[in-house]
Amino acid sequence: MKTAILGFGTVGVGVYEMLGKARGLEPGPVLVRPGKEDAPFKVSSMEAIVSDPSVEAVAEVMGGIEPAFRYACQAMEAGKHFVTSNKALVAAKGVELNRLAREKGVAFLFSAACGGGVPFLHNLTLARESDSILSLGGILNGTTNYMLDAMQRLGLDYAEALADAQRLGYAEADPTADVSGLDALRKIMLACAVAYDVLPAEGLLNEGIESVTAADVRHFRSRGYTCRLLASGGRTESGVYSYVEPVLLRDGAAECSVLQNYNMARYEGRNSGPIVLMGQGAGRYPTASAVLRDLSGILRGERAMFSESCARGRVDNSGSVHCYYVRLPADLAGEIAAESTEYEGEVARLVTKPMSVSAMHETARRLREQGAALFFAAIRD
Ligand code: HSE
Repeated sequence: MKTAILGFGTVGVGVYEMLGKARGLEPGPVLVRPGKEDAPFKVSSMEAIVSDPSVEAVAEVMGGIEPAFRYACQAMEAGKHFVTSNKALVAAKGVELNRLAREKGVAFLFSAACGGGVPFLHNLTLARESDSILSLGGILNGTTNYMLDAMQRLGLDYAEALADAQRLGYAEADPTADVSGLDALRKIMLACAVAYDVLPAEGLLNEGIESVTAADVRHFRSRGYTCRLLASGGRTESGVYSYVEPVLLRDGAAECSVLQNYNMARYEGRNSGPIVLMGQGAGRYPTASAVLRDLSGILRGERAMFSESCARGRVDNSGSVHCYYVRLPADLAGEIAAESTEYEGEVARLVTKPMSVSAMHETARRLREQGAALFFAAIRD
């Protein structure tokens, strides 16, 4: 199956190389920006791809919502299967693309959009057919995992850790989505849509690691905690919950062993019990391997990851309750109901009384509006 590639960055180059060696697949034209066509296989017009009858599938690895959405529609309208690693595209337009793919009888697959090389969505797609998924989530962003691990084990500060993650090709072109938790949030949205037929909209909450400091990390370590950015999702009575936030885990918890750019995705089936998948969640070849997995899946007849009825739905994060570690200016410590508070000069570090995810995120938003520099993380003992 000849496959055109949209984008020739970190992942695109990997997909091109791997297509040249994969059974039943071959590389087609590669869409690049005008002026960048420095080899015969590179084209700068989508028209050249959709009008080429020998191209049966299109793999989009360029990122962003536009023009990726327009290109996806053009490819499907032309009867070509569409595979993507683009979580922003699927989180924003997945419902529409699912509908169009079904109308045109083509595949719409996006394993690579969540978990890099980890076959998380692929397994969820199979599991939801025979089991009921009680909850799902895990470490879904390689950049922030790499950074938190490097800050803890190598003693790097935040800026050094981010620069390394960018140099290694883990971070998005604009790393704001990684460090703010938005990238992981988009991934948990896709997982919820696969598992529950609900693509979460409105009410989503994401707290990233932008405000973590080397001093915070030293503080966690002195108390036997490791910090990881975790995504969580599951069903509520009226819809789904879905949020991303830093979590402090007791040494010995499975997530503490997830190092560098690795991801650890998990789901719990009513019958299967907990299932954990671990592997590289970012980088050229791990992500390209997931794109190739989808393309091979098309050869075996796979066509969809979202069910026919998948629709956008409400998110309610008020039912999930944790105690939180909060570091904030000492004069604001009284604003949060705490179990315990430690003062260190102008800084206070407190452990809150149990509070809902939505209440904690709202409190942080309100205090930041007053100019407070704070970091918070849920505590899992
Ligand atoms: N920037 C993403 C990450 C790439 O770090 O996980 C893979 O989705």
